[in-house]
Amino acid sequence: MRSITFGIVGIVAVAAALLLASRLVIFPAFGDPDAILVPIIQTSVVDSLSGGLPLRAYTERCGLTVGAAVDIEALRNDSLYQATLAREFDMLTPENAMKFRELSPELGQYDFSDADLLVDFARSHDMQVRGHTLVWHQGLPRWLQTGDFTPAALESILLRHIHTLVGRYQGQITLWDVVNEAVDFDGEFRDTLWMRAMGKDYIEIAFWAAHQADPDARLFYSDYDNEALNAKSDAIYNLMKDLLARGVPVDGVAFHLHVGLNDTPNWSDVQRNIQRLQDLGLEVQITEMDVRIQDGNLPLMEKLAQQSTIYGTAATICLQSAACTSFSIWGFTDRYTWIPNQTGNPDFPLLFDVNYQPKPAYTSVRDALRACCTLDGGARCSN
Ligand code: G3I
Repeated sequence: MRSITFGIVGIVAVAAALLLASRLVIFPAFGDPDAILVPIIQTSVVDSLSGGLPLRAYTERCGLTVGAAVDIEALRNDSLYQATLAREFDMLTPENAMKFRELSPELGQYDFSDADLLVDFARSHDMQVRGHTLVWHQGLPRWLQTGDFTPAALESILLRHIHTLVGRYQGQITLWDVVNEAVDFDGEFRDTLWMRAMGKDYIEIAFWAAHQADPDARLFYSDYDNEALNAKSDAIYNLMKDLLARGVPVDGVAFHLHVGLNDTPNWSDVQRNIQRLQDLGLEVQITEMDVRIQDGNLPLMEKLAQQSTIYGTAATICLQSAACTSFSIWGFTDRYTWIPNQTGNPDFPLLFDVNYQPKPAYTSVRDALRACCTLDGGARCSN
């Protein structure tokens, strides 16, 4: 009996030592044996933060904003979430709180309580807000999806929505994702409620309406898989060129950059794409980056190292171009991320772990920011 007890104690002790040595803790919520290992905390905090300042300490000097999408319930209820967000970022994007469905679940009624909460938080922590998003084929209220509206009525609904939302936050929200995901992979305009009602004119109608509601706001076209060179990014480039030639008030193109370890764009092509948009006089912003790690069979630490490299590469490419004025991620802590809902699998795609400790990816982004004055001849660096 005694030897069995010693045996069990010994096994437990060895297992504990191995866990500590590998700086991993068990996160009990998930079943996948690889995915349940989450990088630790106490020591990595010291490693990561002792050599540098929070991300937002570098943004003024580097001439860009560093942002995160905000989960409104976490902002409302989680004090560590609030503290980390305020410490690290100087731009916030509402992940869902400014979508049509969330704002106007009933026809003719608006509830701005969540959106106001975010804007107030941003103001009190000296952060900008990226308005997201005015026109999209998803995130629509049921009354709008199921209603039998004429094309003229849909145009009027769209205009009223844009005037209501942009007008409410005039002067407080400095830039908007006006039209989101209007182009398909093949370069054709996506078949949406708005497209069926107004043809592709709905795009410029939306930009003009946003401009009228707040002439000082910077207005973006936003999409995914448009970062490199392909039929979709070609079509968006041509759309921008056409809008600009006709005087439509568009200021920039947003790249979402939802990627995975085995699903990254050709980075040289990303640079070429940024350059051609810059040549049109446009800004470019990375607005929704996350890096899925659930695919493949590599050890977790190797996956986190690869994730870190991908984040660092994207941040550096942004910093290398004067046109790239924001680097924003879709969330910031692995505790709250849309990826598991989307894929059905656990994932850890962001800069902070579930306990708000910085991951290797955080260090890479911060290292890129620290080096911004050495990039591109230091052209974008203010001191
Ligand atoms: O709010 C309801 C809640 O009341 C209900 O109990 C729950 C049950 O499913 O659903 C909740 O709404 C969900 C919402 O997220 C908030 O969690 C919606 O069903 C769900 O569809 C919604 O998903 C969001 C998705 O956009 C669609 O709006 C994701 O969180 C959000 O990350 C995602 O964000 C998009 C960007 O806006 C545009 N680019 C792509 C990006 C990822 O898809």
